[in-house]
Amino acid sequence: MAQLWGGRFTKETDQMVYDFNASIGFDKRLFHEDIEGSVAHVTMLAKQGILTEGERDKILEGLSGIRKDVDDGTLEIDETCEDIHSFVEAELIRRIGDAGKKLHTGRSRNDQVALDMRLYARKHVTEVDGLLKELLTVILTVMEENMGTYMPGFTHLQKAQPVTLAHHYGAYFEMFKRDRQRMSDIYERMNYCPLGAGALAGTTYPLDRECTASLLGFAGPTLNSMDSVSDRDYLIEFLAALSTVMMHLSRFSEEIIIWNSNEYQFVEIDDAYSTGSSIMPQKKNPDIAELVRGKTGRVYGALMSLLTTMKGIPLAYNKDMQEDKELTFDAIDTVENCVTLFTGMLRTMKFRKERMAASAMNGFTNATDAADYLVGKGVPFRDAHSIIGRLVLYCVEKGTSIDRLSLDELRGISDKFDEDIYMAVSLETCVEKRLTIGGPGPEAMRKVIEKHKEYLAEEKSQTK
Ligand code: ARG
Repeated sequence: MAQLWGGRFTKETDQMVYDFNASIGFDKRLFHEDIEGSVAHVTMLAKQGILTEGERDKILEGLSGIRKDVDDGTLEIDETCEDIHSFVEAELIRRIGDAGKKLHTGRSRNDQVALDMRLYARKHVTEVDGLLKELLTVILTVMEENMGTYMPGFTHLQKAQPVTLAHHYGAYFEMFKRDRQRMSDIYERMNYCPLGAGALAGTTYPLDRECTASLLGFAGPTLNSMDSVSDRDYLIEFLAALSTVMMHLSRFSEEIIIWNSNEYQFVEIDDAYSTGSSIMPQKKNPDIAELVRGKTGRVYGALMSLLTTMKGIPLAYNKDMQEDKELTFDAIDTVENCVTLFTGMLRTMKFRKERMAASAMNGFTNATDAADYLVGKGVPFRDAHSIIGRLVLYCVEKGTSIDRLSLDELRGISDKFDEDIYMAVSLETCVEKRLTIGGPGPEAMRKVIEKHKEYLAEEKSQTK
């Protein structure tokens, strides 16, 4: 077992203690970030005259050799090392000898791991942002193609007023757009470099922290060394934003599961994104949507776990913080997989437009419009509401709908009804007249879709 300490110990660590303490099993994921951080550190050390140029070149060459060999599979990460930092350093020393022992000058694993995690998180904020952008592109395509696809809009899962598929998807566009904005906020806040904070109190070497920050693409160095090594806010914020993404995906999944049910049959999920039953041959299950809904729990779990881990930690670094990794990695993997699969499922899902329109027609989704019609004829809204309430009751008892009543029947309830009522309560009119900003009417939708197109065309990614 390669470990970086031992001078002050007279006994070997108990094997179980060693294993319990070790993190290489999961922090080996930070291999690339660890090398990247060391390259910047060593470059800066030489610039400051702390290392010679010769030492720097030897170290850089060693590091790049290690990276190459691990990448192409010639070198395996040795899991008997305590952590990824120990592995890289031990391997470097094995390769280049004494110069390698100077890599860790003016650095602690505390600022090293803080840097590695930040680099990793920053990269994945950008990755998640990119995946969300693809999801938005698919949503926007469905919107453009379905401004005239009618469906019922619900409140309390009861039919409320007719909307269009474009409008319904438009709601999710807003959600995932906000998720991207969150990614960009988080990115900006986390984009400061903790390297150079040392164990907790900086170092006596003349480190140039501005230099390493800029070499690693950060906006600048962090400004308090104790905070730098013990801050995991950026992970908590990232996990909170990922939880919100999952909450949105889970709501959308729930709707797709309902739409896919035998009762609704609004959609058909592509064969490639459904699964069958081992016993019931007729089944085609929406497993992807269910799994996305289900996996939301574990992402929330990661957030709760890290918040709880952090809540009692005194300044500065404490080993508790090693617990930030597994759950964060798992949450990032989960969200990236979920967004990717969900996007594929949406891209290939078919809509049964006639069923959706038929469903929008029954269930009195045009009752508000019938009341508004009476308002247009001079009836105060509250009275109109009550008249249409009675009309609906009449229809329910007769098993029919407002648009199927004869003019005589309508007039039996209010003499304000005329021939133009049929036009006024048609599905098309109900939707087309809803033209206020944000409404489902085609004119309103067209404007919003234009804005969305411009937004997605913006070259600059939100997070860099
Ligand atoms: N594996 C540790 C972690 O993830 C690295 C930092 C160790 N620092 C220390 N002083 N033991 O937090």
